[in-house]
Amino acid sequence: NDLALREMNIVLIGFMGVGKTTIGKAVAKKLYRDFLDIDEEIEKEFQMPTTKIFQEIGEKQFRKKEKETIINLCTNQRLKVISLGGGAFLQEEIRNLCLSNCIVFFLDLSWESWKDRVSMIIDSRPVLQGKNSEEMKDLFDERQPIYEDHHSKVLTDNLDVDEVASFIVDSLK
Ligand code: S3P
Repeated sequence: NDLALREMNIVLIGFMGVGKTTIGKAVAKKLYRDFLDIDEEIEKEFQMPTTKIFQEIGEKQFRKKEKETIINLCTNQRLKVISLGGGAFLQEEIRNLCLSNCIVFFLDLSWESWKDRVSMIIDSRPVLQGKNSEEMKDLFDERQPIYEDHHSKVLTDNLDVDEVASFIVDSLK
C-alpha cells in the first residue's frame, strides 16, 4: 500500500565515483531522512578504511560483511536513504533483497565523464588500483549490466548534485 511505499528505504547504486554518497546525502536532506553509507558502516565495523580491509583481511571478507550489512539494514530500517558500494549488486542475494524491499535508483554516468574523475577517487578504491585505463574501461563495461536491475535510473552527466537529488525526490511523488 501507499504507506509502506512511502516508508521504503531508497537505495542508490552505480559504479565507483558516480556520486552515490554525495547525492544520497542530498536526497536524505530533501526528504528529512537519515542517510546511511554501506562502505562507511563496513569501515566502522572493521575500524579501518576499505583499502586496508582489502589488503589485510581480503576482498572476500569485505564482500561477506557487505552482504550482512545490507541485509541487516535493508530489512530492519525504514525511511532511510542508503548508498551501496559499487560492487554490492554483483551479489545476487543483495540485488534480490534490495529490488523487493527498497526503491532502487541507478546513478548512471558515461565512461567519458567518469574517466576524468579517476585521479580523485583511486586512492580509496582498491578495485581500481593497479589498473590501466583500458582495464578500468573493461571493468566499467562489465559492471553496467548489473546496475540495469533497478527501479529508476538517472543519467548524471551534466547534472549537478542538487539536480540529481531533485530528480530522485520528484520521481517518488
Ligand atoms: C567497490 C566499490 C566501493 C567499495 C569497495 C569496492 C567496488 O564503493 O565498496 O572499494 O567493487 O565497486 P563505492 O562505489 O562507493 O566507491
